[in-house]
Amino acid sequence: MSITILGIESSCDDTSASVIKDGFLLSNVTANQDVHKAYGGVVPELASRAHQQNIIPVVEQALRQAKLSKNEIDAVAFTRGPGLLGSLLVGTSFSKSFSLALEIPIIEVNHLQAHILVHFIKELEKEKQMPGFPFLCLLVSGGHTQIVVVKNHLEMEIIGQTIDDAAGEAFDKCAKVIGLPYPGGPLIDKNAKEGNRDAFKFSRPRIKDLDYSFSGLKTSFLYFVRDSIKDNPKFIKENMMDLSASIQYTIVEILMDKLEKAVKQTGIRQIAIAGGVSANSGLQKSLIERAKTFGWETFIPEFKFTTDNAAMIGITGYYKYLKKEFASQDIAPMARLPY
Ligand code: KG4
Ligand code: ZN
Repeated sequence: MSITILGIESSCDDTSASVIKDGFLLSNVTANQDVHKAYGGVVPELASRAHQQNIIPVVEQALRQAKLSKNEIDAVAFTRGPGLLGSLLVGTSFSKSFSLALEIPIIEVNHLQAHILVHFIKELEKEKQMPGFPFLCLLVSGGHTQIVVVKNHLEMEIIGQTIDDAAGEAFDKCAKVIGLPYPGGPLIDKNAKEGNRDAFKFSRPRIKDLDYSFSGLKTSFLYFVRDSIKDNPKFIKENMMDLSASIQYTIVEILMDKLEKAVKQTGIRQIAIAGGVSANSGLQKSLIERAKTFGWETFIPEFKFTTDNAAMIGITGYYKYLKKEFASQDIAPMARLPY
């Protein structure tokens, strides 16, 4: 029997819909929200309004690209959390109405679990190497930084996580200090390619076990730049590339050192990365280098699956459908959602 899932993602500032058939991607359409650029971060109220405007056209386009009609969808999977409550409500309410109208089940999806399951999205006429179980996943996004043991498609254990800021937040906040617009992570990455990563040194946090901390680094970067401007008002402009390369290198080394420790502790040598920050070229390079040194097998998502997208919700929905894990109509979204 064939299973076709409509995935809906609306946890932050991207409205996305995707159709997944038997684990294969048929479409993945995302509307980004430019409205937040002027504010230097996502404004929750504006995000919910934009989701409300975008959701129907995005779903229609996803169905059109998949060359399917609504009646051919077997279930609708939606992001229940974590995320911004007003944003989540739009996707949740849409999915409930869609399921009621078509008399099909709804499936709740944890956004973080979904980021990890991008490694199982199949595409027609494309070979893909998928990790076997168990594997380790470094999940790095704008809101989360976790090391996860993935035991099977739906069973995961967090063995390390940030105690304050997420890695993406560290990128974005440091980018803001040197005048880059939100989200600054991709711009730091671009600048870093032309800079010297050893130009400036920033101290690394000392946090126990496999946990992370990034708030101290952000503060020390801010103070360093502020003091340097006092001596040379053109400091940022003259050192933009080196500042970007040095802060990126520091963040990547912090991430990779704990990941290496996690490999030693667990003995698991299949290593995946996921989430928005997994698009970072410095992180990918460092992962590949360490993989060569230590004999790890690595899994790096394609760029289109790194940041928020509904294909990841659809694939998670597909695995939940196989287990008949359906939600009821009274389900509510949750800003914080453990897994
Ligand atoms: O996963 P995601 O799209 O949304 C969340 O669930 O948070 O991640 C967004 C985060 C932002 O902080 C953004 O700056 C960061 O991912 N990001 C990057 C890169 N591309 C996106 N950070 C560093 N380098 C990149 N190339
Ligand atoms: Zn995300």
